[in-house]
Amino acid sequence: MSPFRLTRTLPEDATDAALRADVHRGLTGRPKTLPPKWFYDAHGSDLFEKITELPEYYPTRAEREILLARSGDIAAATRARTLVELGSGSSEKTRHLLDALTDLHTYVPVDVSESALTQAGQALAAERPGLDVHALIADFTAELTLPGTPGPRLVAFLGGTIGNLLPAERAAFLASVRALLAPGDALLLGTDLVKDEEVLVRAYDDAAGVTAAFNKNVLTVIDRELGADFEPAAFDHVALWDAEHEWIEMRLRSRTAQTVKVPALGLAVDFAAGEELRTEVSAKFRQEGVRAELFAAGLGLTHWWTDEAGRFALSLSVAR
Ligand code: SAH
Ligand code: AVI
Repeated sequence: MSPFRLTRTLPEDATDAALRADVHRGLTGRPKTLPPKWFYDAHGSDLFEKITELPEYYPTRAEREILLARSGDIAAATRARTLVELGSGSSEKTRHLLDALTDLHTYVPVDVSESALTQAGQALAAERPGLDVHALIADFTAELTLPGTPGPRLVAFLGGTIGNLLPAERAAFLASVRALLAPGDALLLGTDLVKDEEVLVRAYDDAAGVTAAFNKNVLTVIDRELGADFEPAAFDHVALWDAEHEWIEMRLRSRTAQTVKVPALGLAVDFAAGEELRTEVSAKFRQEGVRAELFAAGLGLTHWWTDEAGRFALSLSVAR
């Protein structure tokens, strides 16, 4: 079996401090918001995996189609010896890349979800003798310190997770990725594309209610970690298309007027009946927008691939 290492790049209490700060800021702001990274405790990561199998949730299947067709091209263009994957989750689709990257020495999955990293990392290390798997528990929106591994390096950010960052956060994130790239390194970026509103909304409001459970899971996380008394059943799942920003917004709508206590923060938060808490944006992209955002961060787009139906894109870019 090849080596599997798991490194926590932040002290254990840093996650707790970040959660407190985010929840305090988000629940005292107007409108109320929460950042999406807190969906992903072990249950949230499992729910996300269930979402990827839903008939309505096309992004995972579309990106897998591109990876199946293009991993050979990606390997030829990058000749990567290290693959760093941000927000790697189950690393399920990554297997197609790992198969194609014949010179690969080290795989560095990076995620806030320890359960997802451990499960995926241990399985990959067992499956692939000779591959060094060095998992990092880290926040990709904070400064990343990567282990010293052989180049060229390919940094992959799949799934369309970049769309879960707000535009200013995306600019800062892409600039920080650019700073990680040496000459010869590349960024492989998955972006979901703008399409019919009905298809988009259905992907975030599935008939089986899995996305609703995923959305409400953030309340369970806050209850458990901060002693809050959110009652998930007292909120409705909302998914809507914001045509101006070209993003899906997930919200939780309070069914009644209610006060939620968050003892760890000394907060009592009033919700009016019908008041909405924004829990996620999921931006959808066009090629020119992706090119422009990469360019602004010091990156030049070299390849653009979509699935047959044109629902999702994978792009390759390098430092310019
Ligand atoms: N790349 C996988 C998983 C996408 S789900 C796929 O394409 O299917 C998003 C993943 O990003 C989750 O595993 C979640 O835990 C992780 N994540 C979300 N915000 C993060 C952050 N700020 N830092 C690190 N990981 C994060
Ligand atoms: C991880 N991310 C790209 C997913 C998305 O589609 O924005 C998270 C998700 N939210 C609801 N369903 C899936």
